[in-house]
Amino acid sequence: MARLKIDNLRKSYGPVEVLKGIDLEIEDGGFLVLVGPSGCGKSTLLNCIAGLEDISGGDILIGERSVTGLHPSKRDIAMVFQSYALYPNMTVEKNISFGMEIRGMPRAAREAAINEVADMLQIRELLKRKPSQLSGGQRQRVAMGRALVRDPQVFLFDEPLSNLDAKLRVDMRTEIKRLHQRMGTTIVYVTHDQIEALTLATKIAVLKDGELLQFGTPDQIYNDPVNMFVADFMGSPSMNLLPATVVEDGGALMVSLAGHEGDMLLPAPESAAMRALLGRQVIFGIRPEAFTDPQGADRTTGQIEKRTCFVDVVEPAGSDTFAVVNLGGKSAVARLRADAQIAPGAVTELAFNMSKAVFFDPASQARVQ
Ligand SMILES: Nc1ncnc2c1ncn2[C@@H]1O[C@H](COP(=O)(O)OP(=O)(O)OP(=O)(O)O)[C@@H](O)[C@H]1O
Ligand SMILES: [Mg+2]
Repeated sequence: MARLKIDNLRKSYGPVEVLKGIDLEIEDGGFLVLVGPSGCGKSTLLNCIAGLEDISGGDILIGERSVTGLHPSKRDIAMVFQSYALYPNMTVEKNISFGMEIRGMPRAAREAAINEVADMLQIRELLKRKPSQLSGGQRQRVAMGRALVRDPQVFLFDEPLSNLDAKLRVDMRTEIKRLHQRMGTTIVYVTHDQIEALTLATKIAVLKDGELLQFGTPDQIYNDPVNMFVADFMGSPSMNLLPATVVEDGGALMVSLAGHEGDMLLPAPESAAMRALLGRQVIFGIRPEAFTDPQGADRTTGQIEKRTCFVDVVEPAGSDTFAVVNLGGKSAVARLRADAQIAPGAVTELAFNMSKAVFFDPASQARVQ
C-alpha cells in the first residue's frame, strides 16, 4: 500500500500530445476513479503508471519513491487490462496461480488465495478450463483474479467490469468495494459507468482531451461541477442544462426561462459573477432528482420552488418515474416517485430544489457562482 502522486505528467505519441500535464494525488489506501470520454487518455495514464509506456515529461511517485524510468516489474503494481491478456495454454487455475509460483509462494497459501478469489469472482466451476473455453465476461473475471491474488502497492484496473452483464456487474462492484475496504490497497480504476465511479471512488478525476478538468470527491464532482462538461458527463439521467436569462425582479436576481405559461422565473444566487450576467444568457443546471413532484421533494431544504409545467412524455423506470417536461425551449427530465399519478399531456405543478441548482456561463462553459 502506498500513496500515488502524478506530477505534471505528459505523454506524446510522435507530435500528438495525449496527456497534457496531469497532476493527481491519491492517498495511501485511496480509490481513484478515472472517467472521461473515449480517447481522452485514461488507459494511457494507467499504462504510464504501470511503466508500460515511457512518459514524455513530469514524474510518477509511489510512496516517496519516483518510479519514472523503473521497469514495470520493479514498480510493485498489479494491473488488469482493458483487453484481458490470459495465458492461452494454461487453465484458469494456473493462470491465477502462476505469478504466485514464480514468487515462490507455498502451495497451501496459493490454494487458499485461489479459493478466495474463485468464490469472490464466481469462477469456481471454471478453474479447470482454458481461456478459449470461456466467455468474454468470464475471461475478464479470471484476469481480475490473477491481479487480486497479488499483494501490490497499487492496483490498476482498466474497465474490469465492462464485459459483464448488468447483474454480475453490480455484484462485482460490491465485491471490489468490499475488497478495498478489507485490504485498503491503493487503487486506480477506469470506468465508463457513472454509478461505478460514484460508488467506488474516494476521489474522481474527470479527463477530457488529455487534460484534467476536475479532481475531487464523488460529492464534489456530482454536486459542485466546475464546468458544463463535468456536470453533463457525471450522472444518469444527466443534469438538465437549460438556457435562461438573468433578470432582476424587485432587486433580486432571477433566471427567466421559457415555461408552459410564458416566461418562468426562478431565484438565482446573489453574487458578483451572476450580477455581471444581468440581461444576458446563463445555463441553468438542475439534476432530475432536484426537479420532482411536490410530494417527492426534499422537505429538509428551504428552497423548494413550485411551478406549473407541461409533461410531454412519461417514462416509468421501476423505482422511479421520469417525466419529460418542456422547459427553456428544451426537454428537461424530472424524476418523480414511482407511484406518481401523471399522464402525458398533463399540466401539473412540479418542485425545483433550488439549493441544488447550478449555473454556467454559456460562453466559457465555466460555473458561475
Ligand atoms: N500507441 C499509440 N500511438 C498513437 N496514439 C495512441 C497510441 N495509444 C493511444 N493513442 C491515442 O491516445 C489517445 C488516448 O488513448 P487512450 O487509449 O488512453 O484513451 P482512453 O481514454 O483509454 O479511451 P477508451 O475509453 O476508448 O478506452 C487516443 O487519441 C489514442 O488514439
Ligand atoms: Mg481505454
